[in-house]
Amino acid sequence: MSKFESLKVVDNFYQNNLFFPMPTVAISTLCEDGTTTIGAYSLVFPYYIAGKDYYAMILECRNSSNTAQNILRNGKCALSFIKDDRKYFKELVRLGFPGKTPAEKMKDCPFELIKGEAEGERPLILKDAYQVIECSWDESLEDAYKSKEHIGELEGVEPPYNNFNGITSKFGCHFILKIDKILMEEKYAKGLKKGLNSSSFPNVPVDYGYHDSKNFWYKKFKGFRPIAEPIAETNAGSVESVMYCAERLQTKVRFTKEACEMYVKIPRPFMKAALMQIVQIAEENGIEVIDKQAAERIAEIRKKHK
Ligand SMILES: Cc1cc2nc3c(=O)[nH]c(=O)nc-3n(C[C@H](O)[C@H](O)[C@H](O)COP(=O)(O)O)c2cc1C
Repeated sequence: MSKFESLKVVDNFYQNNLFFPMPTVAISTLCEDGTTTIGAYSLVFPYYIAGKDYYAMILECRNSSNTAQNILRNGKCALSFIKDDRKYFKELVRLGFPGKTPAEKMKDCPFELIKGEAEGERPLILKDAYQVIECSWDESLEDAYKSKEHIGELEGVEPPYNNFNGITSKFGCHFILKIDKILMEEKYAKGLKKGLNSSSFPNVPVDYGYHDSKNFWYKKFKGFRPIAEPIAETNAGSVESVMYCAERLQTKVRFTKEACEMYVKIPRPFMKAALMQIVQIAEENGIEVIDKQAAERIAEIRKKHK
């Protein structure tokens, strides 16, 4: 007999049918009078992660929220990720209560707000966030700028709806948010640049959502440390397989065996793309033969590009 029970999929399945671990994010937006207001959000995830002209996040929210109305109006927002602290989560649950105007919500808000670093008129950001993503809504995708016609319709928007950007249902909205800046608290930025150990990670609360009409549930992180799980060495290919791939690239650049040895850990599906990127850097820098020394130089250049 199966140990699982099949559940009926209902609205808000991510919290009614699942234990779905989510981030806890204070989204700040610009009101018409130029002040900043904050809403609590968890349904905010990476959307374009590579291979496009820009990087993007996606936000799923209620179209009548202050956040959605402000993004529809001026397109700017900042995603401040809160640290694991009971008082911060409590405040976000307060800021997550629907139906309050920005002035009502913000008058007692204890978060210290500061200016971000992205250009133009922007909402303020949380000073004590461990990371902040400053964003601009891409209103061109799916002609989502047409959703602006519905600004102020707070009792539900009538069809037609967009599929993934702008107003997507009577009460729903999706925003594809172009990433303009990522701001990281210094000590964590250092870890990302210089290499991580178990204390390089911020204390991150995990939100499990609104399960029982009374409480938001979350998991504390404090007191726990991330555990490193080494990636299986069996994924590494042989130097011959790297050389085989390198010899078949459309380029005059040559790889020595010594250089190929440095790439054996690249997983096979990414090998060709990685070698092509390496070749491109070699060509741009006038390198005709990639030996160990050149490979090290190229690795430095790639690191700087990241
Ligand atoms: C921890 C937490 C996470 C939330 N995540 C979301 C979410 O991802 N999407 C959403 O529409 N509402 C979410 N809510 C509810 C919103 O915060 C709520 O609609 C609130 O009124 C939004 O504020 P605003 O009207 O000032 O934008 C969340 C609330 C809390 C407390």
